[in-house]
Amino acid sequence: MAETAKTASLQEETRIFNTPQDIIEYSNAYQWMKKKGFKTEMEMRKWCSDNYIEFWDEMAKTYADWSVPYTKVLDDSGKPYYKWFTGGKINVAYNAVDRHAKGAKKDKVAYHFIGEPVGDARDITYGQLYIEVNKMANALKGAGVVKGDRVVAYLPMIPELPITMLACAKIGAIHTIVFSGFSSGGLNSRVNDAEAKVVVTADGFYRRGKPLPLKPNVDEAMKTAPSVQKVVVVKRTGVAVPMTEGRDVYYDDFVKGQSEECETVMLDPEDRLFILYTSGTTGKPKGIEHAHGGYAVTPAQTTSWVMDVHDDDVFWCTADCGWITGHSYVVYGPLCLGASTILYEGSPDFPDLGRWWSIIEKYGVTVFYTAPTAIRMFMKTGEEFVKKYNLSKVRILASVGEPLNPEAYMWFRKNIGSDRAPIIDTWWQTETGCHVIAPLVMTPEKPGSVCFPLPGFNTDIFDEDANSVPLGYGGNIVQKTPWPSMLRAFFRDEVRYKKEYWDMYWQVKPGTYLAGDKATRDKDGYWWIQGRIDDVLKVAGHRISNAEVESAAVSHPKVAEAAVVGQPDEVKGEKIVAFVILRDGVAESPELAKEISVHVRKVLGPVAYPDKVYFVKDVPKTRSGKIMRRVIKAKALGKETGDLSALANPESVDNIPRIDL
Ligand code: PRX
Repeated sequence: MAETAKTASLQEETRIFNTPQDIIEYSNAYQWMKKKGFKTEMEMRKWCSDNYIEFWDEMAKTYADWSVPYTKVLDDSGKPYYKWFTGGKINVAYNAVDRHAKGAKKDKVAYHFIGEPVGDARDITYGQLYIEVNKMANALKGAGVVKGDRVVAYLPMIPELPITMLACAKIGAIHTIVFSGFSSGGLNSRVNDAEAKVVVTADGFYRRGKPLPLKPNVDEAMKTAPSVQKVVVVKRTGVAVPMTEGRDVYYDDFVKGQSEECETVMLDPEDRLFILYTSGTTGKPKGIEHAHGGYAVTPAQTTSWVMDVHDDDVFWCTADCGWITGHSYVVYGPLCLGASTILYEGSPDFPDLGRWWSIIEKYGVTVFYTAPTAIRMFMKTGEEFVKKYNLSKVRILASVGEPLNPEAYMWFRKNIGSDRAPIIDTWWQTETGCHVIAPLVMTPEKPGSVCFPLPGFNTDIFDEDANSVPLGYGGNIVQKTPWPSMLRAFFRDEVRYKKEYWDMYWQVKPGTYLAGDKATRDKDGYWWIQGRIDDVLKVAGHRISNAEVESAAVSHPKVAEAAVVGQPDEVKGEKIVAFVILRDGVAESPELAKEISVHVRKVLGPVAYPDKVYFVKDVPKTRSGKIMRRVIKAKALGKETGDLSALANPESVDNIPRIDL
C-alpha cells in the first residue's frame, strides 16, 4: 500500500525545472533539432522513433567510421536475433582510439587518471593510449589469444583496465570484465562460464588509504579454472604476491618489447565485443553479449545527445568499468567521441568527503554522471565539504542505476549544479548498452521522473495482454523495436535468452523486448520507474540477484536454506536481509549470524554482504517449491502480505519476524 501511495505522490509532483536557455541552445541535441527543422522536442522525439531505422542510419554515419560501409541498417529476419549494419566492417577500438591518435587529437587527454593515493595522478593522451593499447594487443596475440577468445579483466579502476578492454577489441577478442568487488567465487564462476584463456589482474588496489590484496582471490579462483593459460598481473600496490611459474606474468614484462603498432582487425558489426555478466532471477549470472557495430554507435551518440559532451568538456562518469555504465560511459562512449574523461580509482569519501568535489574543481569537470546512492550519502553528511570547492564549471549533472528520489534531485541540483545544471536521470540496463529513457538538456524536468523515451526508441508500457496502458496506469517496460547496442544473446544459453526477454509477448507481438522493470506515466506523459518485476536487488546501485545471495548463504555448512529480500535503505536504496533455516541440531547465535554474513561476503564479495541475518524455522513457498520473497518482505516490513492462497505452507508466514527499520 505504502508503495502505491508513494507512487501516487510522486506523480503529483508539480515542480518543473527548465534548463537555462543558453545551456539548451548550446546542447548537441538542440542543435540537431534546429538543423532538421523540428519545432518542438516532442515533434523531434516522435519523428526519430517513428523513423528509427533512418534515425539510427544517420547516427551510425555521424558517430562511427566504417572501414566498409554497411548495405543494410537492420536485418530483423531472424527475430529475436537482430543484426545491425549488415555488410559493413568496423572495429570499435579504431573508433575509440586509432582515429584520434592518428588525427588532430593525438595530444588531447583521453584519461585524467587519478589514483586513490592523493597526488598519484597522470594524464594519458590519445597518442599514448594508442601505444599502450597496441602493446597490450600484441602481447595478447603473443600469448595465443585469437579472435573470439575470451579475456577476463579483474582490475581496479586503473588505466590497464580500459587498455585491456581496447586491446581485446582491437584484435577481435572478447573481454569479460569482472568487478573487482567480487570475491574469488564470483570470479571463478564467470571465468569458467566464459572459458577465459587469459585473466588480467593486479597485485592489489588502494582502498581508504590502505593497499589491499587482489591477487590471492585470483589464485583461489584459478584452482578450478582449467581454461586459463595465463594470468597477467599489474603491479599496482607493489605488495609481494605469489606467482605461479609458467602461468603468471607481470603486466610490465608481458608488454615489454612489444611493438607500438598493431593492426586493428576490421570485423563484422555483429562480431562480439564483450560479455558482461549480470544478475537475473536465478542464482546463475547471465553472460550478456554485445557487438562491435552497435557499440561503436549508441554509447557515443548518447554521450553526445544525453550527456551533452562537447569537444572541450571534461566528462566524469564515476562508475566502475566492472559494470555496464563503465563500459559505455567511461570507455566506449567518451572515447569514440574523442572526449577527455576522468578515471578515478578511489572512493568518494576518502581522505575526506571533499575528494570528488576537489577533483571536479581541479580538473574543471563540466559534465558529471553518478549514482543516487552517492548523492544520498553526501546529502546525509551535509554540505560543509561541498562548499569548500568551486563547482561553477559544472554544466550538466546526470544519474543512473536506481530511482533518483526528488529530495536527492533537489540536493544535487542546488549543491553541485549551482541551481542551473539540468539533472539527466537516465534509465537503462546492461542489456540495452546505452541510455533509453531520459530527459534531454532541453526537457523540462520533474524531480524523480526519467521523463521520456529517447529518440530512436519505441519504448512503451504494456499490460499482461500486450496493450499499451493509458496515462496514469502502470505496467511492464517494453521495447517495441530493436536498437543498435541491444544485447545480442546470452553466452551459450539460447533458451534462457528467449525466455527472459522475448517469450512474454511472443504470441501477440513477436519481437517485443521485456525489460524487467515496471513504470507508469503521469497525466503529462512523464515516466516514473517503479522497480523490478523480478527478484533482483539494487544495493548501492549494484545489481545482485536474491537467488545468488541465497545460494551463497546455503553454501555455509550450517545453513539448510535461505531466503533473501531487500530492505529499503536511505542511502544504499536497499540493503540485504537474509532469513536462514539452520541445519538440524545447529544452535542459533548472534556469532553464527555474523559468520553467515561474512561467509556470503567471502563467496560473492563485499557488494553482497547481508546486513542482517535472521533465523527462522521455515520460509513461505509455493506448491512448486518457489520461495515467496514478496510475502516474506511484506511480513518483515510490517505490510499487508496479500493473497496467500498459492502457498504450500501459509503458517510459515507467522514465523517471519518483523525486522528493525
Ligand atoms: O531496475 C532498473 C535499474 O537498474 C536496472 C539495470 O541494472 P544494470 O543492468 O546493473 O544497469 C545499471 C546501469 C544502467 C534496471 O532494470 N535502473 C537503472 N537506471 C535507473 C534504474 N531505476 C530507476 N531509475 C533509473 N534511472
